[in-house]
Amino acid sequence: MKYVIGNWKSNQNLTESLIWLENIKSLCPRLPKDITVILCLPFTDIAAFNSKLSEINLPLITGAQNVSHLPPGKHTGEINAHMLSELVSYCLVGHSERRRDFKETCVDVAQKAKALLENTITPIICLDTPYLDEQIKELFRFDVDVSKCFFVYEPLAAIGTGKPQNPNSANIIAHQIDFLIDNVSPILYGGSVTSDNANSYVSQNQIDGVLVGTDSLDPAEFCSIIQSLS
Ligand code: PGA
Repeated sequence: MKYVIGNWKSNQNLTESLIWLENIKSLCPRLPKDITVILCLPFTDIAAFNSKLSEINLPLITGAQNVSHLPPGKHTGEINAHMLSELVSYCLVGHSERRRDFKETCVDVAQKAKALLENTITPIICLDTPYLDEQIKELFRFDVDVSKCFFVYEPLAAIGTGKPQNPNSANIIAHQIDFLIDNVSPILYGGSVTSDNANSYVSQNQIDGVLVGTDSLDPAEFCSIIQSLS
């Protein structure tokens, strides 16, 4: 199985997201069977997006982009894993923008991953080389079952810059992640992925898919990325 994950970040209100969905339905009426497509949406779009998805019968899977590390309780403004469990099957954790802008630590990320797994949501854990070892050590320290997680290697220099990393170098880091987690979890690459380069990552022996930011917002380009892998 190959994976394409879209990350809309802090873009698209509900109206815009439903228009995106109509467009993708006409551009990609049938998704290839060997590709799992997951779309990580803003919290505000998820419920209505899911209803529309079941109406139009498109096998897209929804995910979230973040979750609270805290359990349900007196935590004003927090969206926890229990709340998300009725809405999504996947959730990004530890994206570099959250580490940079919200000072998320490897401990926070491990706690979030644990909370997600306790609520049967698959954590999609984003990693870069400066904290790769530390992050995986914290996952083990918090008893996170890494065989139930997805991992994405996202080099900072490639995110949103139009300067993707060389696929061979990305594959070397993907091997390093595979060695550290010692299992068969999917490992993806993210950072300036386009329809022109997506297949050069997925054809590497250790890379199972791509995480797409900017180009997931454009239905035609996102559809081309999916089709380029089938
Ligand atoms: P990009 O973003 O595709 O715009 O580089 C990737 C990401 O941040 O996940």
